[in-house]
Amino acid sequence: MFEEQGLTITRSLPSEGKMGIDKELYDRSKTQNIALLKWLDKMVEMCQPSTVHWCDGSDEEWDHLCEQMIERGSMIRLNEKIRPNSFLVRSDPRDVARVESRTFICSYGKEDAGPTNNWEEPRKMRAKLKRLFKGCMEGRVMYIVPFCMGPIGSPISQYGVQVTDSPYAVLNMRIMTRMGKEVLDSLGERDFFIPCLHSVGMPLTEGVEDVAWPCDPDNTYIVHFPEQRTIVSYGSGYGGNALLGKKCLALRIASCMARDNEWMAEHMLILGVENPDGEKTYVAGAFPSACGKTNMAMLVPPDSMTGWKVTTVGDDIAWLKPDEDGGIRAINPEAGFFGVAPGTSWETNPNAMESMKQNTIFTNVALTKDGDVWWEGLTDQAPDGMIDWRGNDWSPEATTPAAHPNARFTAPASQCPTIDQDWENPAGVPIAAFVFGGRRMSDIPLVYQSFNWNHGVYLGATLASETTAAAEGKLGNLRRDPMAMLPFCGYNMGDYFRHWIRMGKRLENKPRIFHVNWFRKDENGKFLWPGFRENMRVLRWIVERTSGQARAVESPLGWAPRQRDLDWSGMEFSEEQWQELMKIDPESLRMQTLRHEELFLQLSEFLPKEMLFERELLVSRL
Ligand code: OXD
Ligand code: MN
Repeated sequence: MFEEQGLTITRSLPSEGKMGIDKELYDRSKTQNIALLKWLDKMVEMCQPSTVHWCDGSDEEWDHLCEQMIERGSMIRLNEKIRPNSFLVRSDPRDVARVESRTFICSYGKEDAGPTNNWEEPRKMRAKLKRLFKGCMEGRVMYIVPFCMGPIGSPISQYGVQVTDSPYAVLNMRIMTRMGKEVLDSLGERDFFIPCLHSVGMPLTEGVEDVAWPCDPDNTYIVHFPEQRTIVSYGSGYGGNALLGKKCLALRIASCMARDNEWMAEHMLILGVENPDGEKTYVAGAFPSACGKTNMAMLVPPDSMTGWKVTTVGDDIAWLKPDEDGGIRAINPEAGFFGVAPGTSWETNPNAMESMKQNTIFTNVALTKDGDVWWEGLTDQAPDGMIDWRGNDWSPEATTPAAHPNARFTAPASQCPTIDQDWENPAGVPIAAFVFGGRRMSDIPLVYQSFNWNHGVYLGATLASETTAAAEGKLGNLRRDPMAMLPFCGYNMGDYFRHWIRMGKRLENKPRIFHVNWFRKDENGKFLWPGFRENMRVLRWIVERTSGQARAVESPLGWAPRQRDLDWSGMEFSEEQWQELMKIDPESLRMQTLRHEELFLQLSEFLPKEMLFERELLVSRL
């Protein structure tokens, strides 16, 4: 992995003796895959684990790993009667989220990573990592986790193999990906897979006592080598830093593969909208983190919209490939949800609540007296006698939250009541619309449609979300998050826009592109739109626009619905409210447009001219 070249096929098996690997240490007969064995030999020699375990993905393995973690005080079994086969894990308080500042794209050239990514010269980075990884698994088990992103056998899927010393990562990978023996068998002797090396970075050298959540926050590195298609992560056991199939493979590395091979790897939910006649339309949506993406993927339409249904294909990532009909089809590369727990409730997302009824891992939530879980927003009243995410007694009077704001549930997608019947279809589902959504307190109307593909790319490229300062009535920080991919694009963002433009030329049946904003407020700071289930009214307009059934009028921003173009069955919404929600203030929007400048300046030399052209058009329309 640390060589200049990627995986190359060797025609003969490297001899065990030559590598200095103890033959007893790991069973090399599990696979005939030479490229894999060659890589594993190097990893074992470098990391020096005390044992090596091939993960088969079985229930027995799951039980065994859970038991082991419980015994070591790293995991708590929840009340079997309330939440069967479910567990609570508390992380080190210094290791609670993805760390963008420690995430690197180590392409050969700095400009290939672009100005929005951290970059380090690959040779230098390799040397640094080599020092960190040498002996890093001493006293620990190295787990070999063969996994597949996407349904096994789908032409859109990709194989990976993660080597890790974290049993927590193994258990989460079992939920989030297809993992184990079946994958290893299906990988067969193929030499292409994505090698993912991970260590929590705490070797149990002589005299070192293990802890419940080992990590090394001072030396955390999440590193991607896009040309070699390899991933190396050190020092963190949490979420996207450790479950390398998710953000690292399915977005950062996959975005590079997609650019090179005419497909798309996007930070998008995928949902199906079924009308009362049973006709289904699929939509993919990009929303920056903390904009309610999981809720939208599992939306429950209002009761008054009789016969309308939403089905869930995925809540976070979409891989899209052109099909023979000139359209584009999407798969969800994941097999589970790694959702934010706080704010999730029977009110806000009953389908997520159903999904986590059993076989679920909870991380950094609070523990109730009766052995169940709790977090802020789950119920109005916090129960008495809980233990908080740090393991301390907690009472409703406490000034600190019971659950960490980034506490998570890891639940199998198959347990979601709205899971789409085609969610594992190897061919994917046909996408009719892309929806971009930001959290915008002012100026931006509820919904509008781009005039054409490039205009839609511009809407995605200028996607932004306001941070919480705005919620307190001040003008919030507008964080630009193009296509919600800022932390996840594995290459130069300017080239990424160019790739989108190119895909538009390639596709005959292009998805229509929309922008939504559920978060507009009035001058008193009150939300103008109720959101949640009522978003179905917008979704209906969107899918009916793609089939030419719904009407719209031209506005400076794009095609916009009039009030009568939406379904209002069972909902009161006055003409004035609608006008305020959809109002366009050209002066203020011109100022907004100037703020696009920051990102465009940062990308200046890499920015496709089409984006500047779209901005000029917008300014002149305003
Ligand atoms: C996530 C994120 O966790 O986008 O999905 O941050
Ligand atoms: Mn995400």
